[in-house]
Amino acid sequence: MNYSEKVMDHFANPRNVGELADANGVGEVGNPKCGDIMKMYLKIEEGIIKEVKFKTFGCGAAIATSSMATELIKGKSIEDALKVSNKAVMEALDGLPPVKVHCSVLAEQAIKAAISDYYLKNGIDPIPIVGRIEGCSGENAACYKELN
Ligand code: FES
Repeated sequence: MNYSEKVMDHFANPRNVGELADANGVGEVGNPKCGDIMKMYLKIEEGIIKEVKFKTFGCGAAIATSSMATELIKGKSIEDALKVSNKAVMEALDGLPPVKVHCSVLAEQAIKAAISDYYLKNGIDPIPIVGRIEGCSGENAACYKELN
């Protein structure tokens, strides 16, 4: 399989790996077909993503796309981060082989799940803003939680 240099770089040297103890938005998503899981931690202050970290248990493309996704959303407003699509992540990595496109979808969903969790923690229904997230799972399954 042919991977771009950027994919190989982000796979070998992933940026922003780890957890954020003081994250106020945490999202976890998984792909049931390959079993890969991505967890995204955000620290949001006044609508801006100040810090972001991720942990991915998955394939090389999943690691590279989550690494690039964190780079793309760091310092951005929530609104701009929500516009970071899997296509944007793929373009920033100079492309992915077709069988690996779903890995970039996981990265987009992880961002959305973490932002949804942030909204829920602030008493805001995320569904009208973020939409429903496929594959959202884990303890912080913001997409499955309902506001009471
Ligand atoms: Fe499933 Fe990459 S093979 S995320």
